[in-house]
Amino acid sequence: MAARAQALRAQGADVITLAAGEPQAPTAAGVVEAAVAAVRDPANHHYGPAQGHPGLRSLVARRVAEDTGLVWTPEDVQIALGAKHALFLAVQALIEAGDEVLVAEPGWPGHAEVVAAAGGVAVAVPTDAHFRLRTDDLDRRRTARTRAVILSSPGNPTGAVHDASRLSPIADWALRHGIWVVGDDLYRAFDHTGTYRSILRAVPALRPRTVVVGGVSKEHAMTGWRVGWLAAPPEVVAAARAHVSRTITHVPTVNQIAALAALEDTGTPRRAARDHRRRRDLVVAALNGIDGIACPLPDGGMFAFPDVTGLLRERGWADSAEFAAWLLDTAHVAVVPGEAFGAPGRVRICFAVDDGTLVTAIERIDAALAAATACGAREPKEALNR
Ligand SMILES: Cc1ncc(COP(=O)(O)O)c(C=O)c1O
Repeated sequence: MAARAQALRAQGADVITLAAGEPQAPTAAGVVEAAVAAVRDPANHHYGPAQGHPGLRSLVARRVAEDTGLVWTPEDVQIALGAKHALFLAVQALIEAGDEVLVAEPGWPGHAEVVAAAGGVAVAVPTDAHFRLRTDDLDRRRTARTRAVILSSPGNPTGAVHDASRLSPIADWALRHGIWVVGDDLYRAFDHTGTYRSILRAVPALRPRTVVVGGVSKEHAMTGWRVGWLAAPPEVVAAARAHVSRTITHVPTVNQIAALAALEDTGTPRRAARDHRRRRDLVVAALNGIDGIACPLPDGGMFAFPDVTGLLRERGWADSAEFAAWLLDTAHVAVVPGEAFGAPGRVRICFAVDDGTLVTAIERIDAALAAATACGAREPKEALNR
């Protein structure tokens, strides 16, 4: 879809992309300034600690302590090249080749990718009607080789938040079977219902078997800076540190200093969360106004994940990939087909764009579908061109 959007742009089309998995906003000026100052300081021109910048680890420890209600020190934290790298470091520390890790379906494909990259086998677990993991479903996929479950809340693409009542049984199940929980809480600042909880706040006893993964990518619009982290028991941190030391040596110091400045800036994520919530309400209401689309209100995150099976049936598109391709060609709006997340019949729409762009995109989708309907065509693209 990205290549197709690029080709259209090259032909001069004004393509709006709601397909990106990142906020459109630039990184806050204060963070950029901190990075510029760090670049100018020769102290940052040389090797640093493999585990990460002590100041950044200290802020991460404080934040994880706030989320979990437990005591964390900088020693409990490993800095990584983004949350994806932190997930990889966690999984490679926990598994032997061929071990199984449970991941939610629908879910972010990166979870299965990091498991495979670490030599493991990702096992997809279906979620409930609200896209949440349930112990029955987890247990049905559990085998003698199951070592861990990746639990992401709020989720991508679903926005599902596992509140305390959902987390407790999962934590009990994990404790009962000696399974590790890797909590990917990357979108935790975008909790639109106030129900987000760290699994460790729900069940502190799970701490010896939990890895908390986070990062600045989404909440500070810093996807390109590549800074994330994990907080975990000592043996996991030691394995992660050893891997970092043997491979990348450490995350670039200047980027870590930018992340440190970001963590000191609590206003930016708060404003982003408020904006995302407003945009969520806007896009979900607009989508539900279109015949054939049913869009649940996501509890968190920055994506709408509507069911478009009604549209596919009415208009004759074979699947949501074909619909997304039509939307791009006809309305010049890019979205991601649900197939990418193990959810055929849905599309993912990122609403972390400015309000004007979002409104224009919705108008274009509406107009393209209305034009196709008005002509009574089965082939919607031809109808619009007529
Ligand atoms: C649920 C989830 N976890 C992790 C990541 C990776 O984040 P980062 O860019 O910090 O590596 C993403 C990116 O889309 C994500 O959606």
